[in-house]
Amino acid sequence: MLADEIVDSHVLVIGSGGAGVRAAIEASQYGKTVLISKTIVGKGGCTTMAEGGFNAVLREQDTCGGHYEDTLKGGAYLNDPELVNILTQEAPLRMGDLVKWGAVFDFTDADEVAQRPFGGQRFPRTCYAGDRTGHEMMMTLVDRLAATDVVALQEYTVIDLLKDGSSVIGAIALDEKGKIVLMKADSTILATGGGTKVYDISTNSSSGTGDGYAMGFRAGAELIDMEMVQFHPTGAVFPYDARGRLVTEAVRGEGGVLKNINGERFMSTYDPARMELSTRDVVARAIATEILKERGTANGGVYLDVTHLPREQIESRLPVMLEQFLKFGVDIRTTPMEVAPTAHHIMGGLRITPGCRTTLSGLFACGEVSGGVHGANRLGGNALAETQVFGKRAGEAAGKAPVRQKTVDERQVDAWQRRLDGFLAGGTNPAQVRKKLQLAMWQGAGIFRTASALEETLRTIKQLQTVNIKATSARNLAECCIVQNMCLTASLICRSALLRTESRGAHVRTDVTQTHDAEHSPFNHTFISQVRDGIETREVKA
Ligand code: FUM
Repeated sequence: MLADEIVDSHVLVIGSGGAGVRAAIEASQYGKTVLISKTIVGKGGCTTMAEGGFNAVLREQDTCGGHYEDTLKGGAYLNDPELVNILTQEAPLRMGDLVKWGAVFDFTDADEVAQRPFGGQRFPRTCYAGDRTGHEMMMTLVDRLAATDVVALQEYTVIDLLKDGSSVIGAIALDEKGKIVLMKADSTILATGGGTKVYDISTNSSSGTGDGYAMGFRAGAELIDMEMVQFHPTGAVFPYDARGRLVTEAVRGEGGVLKNINGERFMSTYDPARMELSTRDVVARAIATEILKERGTANGGVYLDVTHLPREQIESRLPVMLEQFLKFGVDIRTTPMEVAPTAHHIMGGLRITPGCRTTLSGLFACGEVSGGVHGANRLGGNALAETQVFGKRAGEAAGKAPVRQKTVDERQVDAWQRRLDGFLAGGTNPAQVRKKLQLAMWQGAGIFRTASALEETLRTIKQLQTVNIKATSARNLAECCIVQNMCLTASLICRSALLRTESRGAHVRTDVTQTHDAEHSPFNHTFISQVRDGIETREVKA
């Protein structure tokens, strides 16, 4: 066996965003816990980039039942109701943990955590720290983590899950020099976040490459609803290098309005009752339609306007937006922003139980890499809540799992070494494959989909999967593994999108004629694994 080092733990957590760090904090109470991260803990991942907020029922006038119903309706009734119930019941508790640990959220004059309206919700229940909520959360979690004895391995790239028969017993990683390290664990938690970097335009940080979906699939786990990709309605459209960067929903929550090139508040056509605070799937489609109908700006967006709001409100509640756009040469206090949809979140993922167990023994999942909580469309503010609720649950369940005998299958490690050697002898720069993949996905698996475009995209992906990619040195081996994970994740999205022959939430099939609405859909989850794929049916409500 060619591994250079073996690290043993009771719980191995893969990923250092909000879910991973929360899971590690919890798991550390039960035994040796190792947190492995391809970035610097607290600096990478998408949680730290999340701007707008964290949904939690905190007021007497609000109810967990209301949060539950909003989440199911927003998710086009594809959500797992048990997971939604847990989310809504436990979000207030996990918000309480963060406040207790020192997170500085905005507070009202009555000394309560401040809340703002977000789309698709009957009550303003989105807690926030200005428009840098995720950053505040991550700083707090990292401080808390430092008070535990969790061992953090940073800038290590996990390339595969380690198997003993059908059970997961840890992971195979590369250190920063490209050497194989074996991570053995009684329980392994995937908290690798999302993967919308498979699209050309995305809000995700560079770590959003879908590694967890790919590794889970290769190991034999079942994934659900991978076709459900959320396009955030408002991403920046210029300058070119900033395309896709998140323009928080908080802008609309604070009263920002959307207008087309003719100055029309076009949401009155698409959702006159909720207007700009409709759900993200509806707003993203509305903006995309306005742009397709040539009512967009010259830069390819629509206007998002806050110039009517008091300057003080913009400065105090949206300071990051103000600063970000000032860097682009736009003062949002006097000039409307220009925005267009951007790939933001994958609602599907590894199928989990309420205890975050996947379909594979020894493997747990939490956060964006798992599926079921958000159904066909996520409500803004539910992702940060999910990281904390299910991060804690995963850490606890994994920590309580028994100590096990774990035998490393040397053939798995040797096969990986041969694959890595192959990359060193390869010919094509992985960046070329990455770019072709991103363009193909944007073109063929975007907001509006057809079977023929999805099939064409799948053909492109299959061709990209055969390219002999090259690592220029051992330090670049991880990039080759990541690009292959991106191709696999993209193929899961397209295959699942072909399985769902209906339009539901974020998934719109323009080639399908449909008579049912989401509530009366005869379909439930799509599922995909090494051994089976398909779509579940359900009893149609009268
Ligand atoms: O728009 C936002 O601030 C993003 C929030 C979210 O995705 O939950």
